[in-house]
Amino acid sequence: MFRMMNAQQPGDQTAGNTTDILHDFQVSFFAMRRLATFPWTFLEKELANEKTSELVSDILKQTCLHPLCQKHPPSVKYRRLFLTELIRRQEAAEAEPLDELYDALGQVLGAEEGAECYKSYILPCGGAVSLLESVAVISDGTTGLVTWEAGLYLAEWALDNQQAFSGRTVLELGSGVGLTGITVCRSCGPSRFVFSDCHRSVLQKLRDNVRLNGLDGRTGPGVRVEELDWGAATEERLREIGANIVIAADVVYDPDVIGCLVKLLSRILRGSSPPEGPPEVLISSTIRNPDTYNCFKLQLESAGISHDVITGPVSHVFPYNRVSAIELIKLYI
Ligand SMILES: C[S@@+](CC[C@H](N)C(=O)[O-])C[C@H]1O[C@@H](n2cnc3c(N)ncnc32)[C@H](O)[C@@H]1O
Repeated sequence: MFRMMNAQQPGDQTAGNTTDILHDFQVSFFAMRRLATFPWTFLEKELANEKTSELVSDILKQTCLHPLCQKHPPSVKYRRLFLTELIRRQEAAEAEPLDELYDALGQVLGAEEGAECYKSYILPCGGAVSLLESVAVISDGTTGLVTWEAGLYLAEWALDNQQAFSGRTVLELGSGVGLTGITVCRSCGPSRFVFSDCHRSVLQKLRDNVRLNGLDGRTGPGVRVEELDWGAATEERLREIGANIVIAADVVYDPDVIGCLVKLLSRILRGSSPPEGPPEVLISSTIRNPDTYNCFKLQLESAGISHDVITGPVSHVFPYNRVSAIELIKLYI
């Protein structure tokens, strides 16, 4: 496992700024964030003041030349665009040329693009969750092969509320490629964690990612990846899982499947429960279409399920667009 950079603690202002900027570049690069969101202005100011390429060299070491990039690289296209942008900024400032920058671009230009790439999400503990994701947002007829913002938000909420998961059995519905669940397993100490989904290629990718992050039963808590279709999950199956807490991110997006999701949530909340009582149920959603989301809430109400909105500020750990409307709700009967 690699140690990644940590954001700087308060101290020397210049060193602090530079460390934070390097951290920002690293976090954004490994998560393949849009290039326009990188802190280029800081780099430009540094280049204008110093005329040396020291900062560019450090950025390169924390991104394309970092050991994590050798093992779990972002897509070829992304690395090419990133290096081209770095060179463009450096040349525009007429800073001293840097051979390793052109060498790195040369290597990427000779590499072949695949249908999959790695995205890595750096954790506060310094490790990283690396995920094999699809280069396309929707591929193989499913939305489950990339990580969604509501899943990143729920993972951040979990990092801020680790006690909610510690020592408990967690069931995740619609896990996708696994960012939220792997973050919980790596940082929150659940006693058991059941990832689930229904789509064949998502389940395959999920299993690969669970293994990639060392959670295949050798080092992690009791971790399982199961096929669990919301329309087909029986009470016996749910009883056997015995979850104390059920989580799901970005599962409210298709009006056609809301009905079976609500029925399942009702079965989870009403079914025979572990000694501590019914499980806690947390659903994190990006509200893209208010009609679809309202339909979900109305169906919850018709099923006799109440909810509290518990969205609140969370520590900013992962890079993603925070402008989208995300709501986290807790369900109860
Ligand atoms: C938008 S993705 C969200 C993935 C992940 N939770 C995240 O936030 O990145 C929705 C996920 O729900 C899964 N899903 C959709 N319908 C389902 C069903 N009926 N049963 C189980 N999983 C389902 C999809 O396969 C997909 O992985």
